Amino acid sequence: MDPLRTLPALLLALLPALLLALGTASAASLGVVQTEGGSVQGLNIPVGLFRSVEVFKGIPFAAKPGLFQKPEPHPGWSDILKATKFAPRCLQISILQTDTFGSEDCLYLNIWVPHGSKVSSDLPVMIWLYGGGFIVGGSMGANFLNNYLYSGQELADRGGVIVVSVAYRVGVLGFLSTGDSALPGNYGLWDQQAAIAWVHRNIRSFGGDPNNITLFGESAGGASVNFQILSPHNRGMIRRAVSQSGVAFCPWAFKTNPRDVVVQVAEKVGCPTDHTMTDCLKTIDAGNLTMAGPKIKLGNPDQPGVMSLLLTPVVDGDFLPDHPSKLFHNAAEVDYLLGVNNMDGHIFTSLDVPSLENNQDTPIEDLRRLLEAYTKDKGPAALDLAFAEYTSGWGPSPNQETIKRTVVDIGTDYLFLVPIQTAAYLHATTATSGRTFSYLLSEPSMLAGPGKPYHDWVGSDHMDDLQFVFGKPFRTPIAYADRHRDLSAYMMHYWTNFARTGDPNVGPSAVPVTWPQMDMFSKRYLNITSDMNDNSTAQKMRLRFVQLWSQNIPSPSETFS
Ligand SMILES: *[C@@H]1O[C@H](CO)[C@@H](O)[C@H](O)[C@H]1NC(C)=O
Ligand SMILES: *[C@@H]1O[C@H](CO)[C@@H](O)[C@H](O)[C@H]1NC(C)=O
Ligand SMILES: *[C@@H]1O[C@H](CO)[C@@H](O)[C@H](O)[C@H]1NC(C)=O
Ligand SMILES: *[C@@H]1O[C@H](CO)[C@@H](O)[C@H](O)[C@H]1NC(C)=O
Repeated sequence: MDPLRTLPALLLALLPALLLALGTASAASLGVVQTEGGSVQGLNIPVGLFRSVEVFKGIPFAAKPGLFQKPEPHPGWSDILKATKFAPRCLQISILQTDTFGSEDCLYLNIWVPHGSKVSSDLPVMIWLYGGGFIVGGSMGANFLNNYLYSGQELADRGGVIVVSVAYRVGVLGFLSTGDSALPGNYGLWDQQAAIAWVHRNIRSFGGDPNNITLFGESAGGASVNFQILSPHNRGMIRRAVSQSGVAFCPWAFKTNPRDVVVQVAEKVGCPTDHTMTDCLKTIDAGNLTMAGPKIKLGNPDQPGVMSLLLTPVVDGDFLPDHPSKLFHNAAEVDYLLGVNNMDGHIFTSLDVPSLENNQDTPIEDLRRLLEAYTKDKGPAALDLAFAEYTSGWGPSPNQETIKRTVVDIGTDYLFLVPIQTAAYLHATTATSGRTFSYLLSEPSMLAGPGKPYHDWVGSDHMDDLQFVFGKPFRTPIAYADRHRDLSAYMMHYWTNFARTGDPNVGPSAVPVTWPQMDMFSKRYLNITSDMNDNSTAQKMRLRFVQLWSQNIPSPSETFS
């Protein structure tokens, strides 16, 4: 063989490996980073030529918390902390509610830092708060093998932002409250706040800009984001916020009468319910306490599952000095992007009304029972009014699709859409420099259609947004179609532009459609799908139903005060 002819071919064949080696060898890296508690070292993952993401997992932001105590600073460490493993989740009930898992020592966070050929500095920072109804959840999210739902890698790399995901206590340990100073509650919110303050103090050492912090979260995490920007304890630390499918006004996110739950928990663990109750509760094993929280019941439209979410944030006179509706002035300078999935209520209504998705007919009576449960505190007149409104377009003989879709609409409106519009309106009305951006995610469910579990008309269900915001269609290409990669890129671009500039349209990442700011006059919002075009902006999201729940019958937020 002619060596002169094979050499170029050989070089060509080796080129990708050579380039990757070159990229890896010269990849910028922070190496050992000094934090207030001690030094930490992560892992640098090459993601392309001269591009890497440096990951720090399991950095403590507070000490192991005492039972029903606010978090305290971490005592620190002397060796270099190898930050390469996620910390255990905060102690919580298992999915079957028969056992617990996780740890009381759980106040840790994870950081993803993108680098180009140079080490990053002054990057915008996005802090993720997970959902899970305030009773379950973890900072890394569910995983398939080593692929974690809340990995910040794609978002950091594609958006040029630092992603931080933080843990907070959940369930009895996070949110038990007597409604007075004996057990004020909100421990999980204090954990989140301690993490935000830690990031504010330390993120510069990781290449972040402490004056450019955006909170984002979904479901109970979205509601948490809302509570954090309403609390006077975060003033000046949070510039922007994103609430996906959850705000403080959601009926499952906030309670004014937590005392009944404490009494039930005390009885279950064998504590007296008199003035010695709190002292007794503080002597009980954390696992036993966790198991003593209210159980979630499913399958009955008279008792919707979300009604058993009773361990929630409360007014404690400190973190939340007043009802959330009276605290929006604290968020007047915060840019707020918030929205809902167009069938956010689907998963919940199909658990409460099993016929919805199991090929049986759904009787109108089941729809009425669900509505009755949702309007229970407001009396029979409210039920009749709501029933008339939801069925007004039905005609004399509604088909099954119409009935089932209406059940999903009722769940979506009551649990998510109406409270989220209420929060958006209030922010748009109260804000000074802060802007408001509202969205509806309308992408069809990937589980809908022939041969799949859901009816073909099912749109974006609860949690469907997560995979797109965290770039899963790029991380796991085989599980997704090209249109899902389009949608994922759109959402990551809007979200990271927003984190950088406070405007989802302005920044280095191209967006398909200009997202108009919301104001009270036009109430404009963006309809997000994989086939977005100039027709993807709309106005007054389900205004008739927003008015039904918030004016014609008392709104959930009003009944709480
Ligand atoms: C936030 O980051 C952007 C982009 O890096 C920068 O232009 C802006 O000045 C920063 N804002 C503040 C308040 O530092
Ligand atoms: C409650 O405590 C008892 C005694 O320590 C223990 O045997 C039991 O497993 C605990 N139950 C749960 C659910 O943690
Ligand atoms: C949102 O966009 C989808 C897809 O283009 C469309 O089918 C749907 O009607 C739109 N929804 C609203 C409320 O505008
Ligand atoms: C927007 O909607 C109008 C009216 O339905 C239609 O004529 C136009 O083609 C649509 N534009 C795009 C980009 O789809």
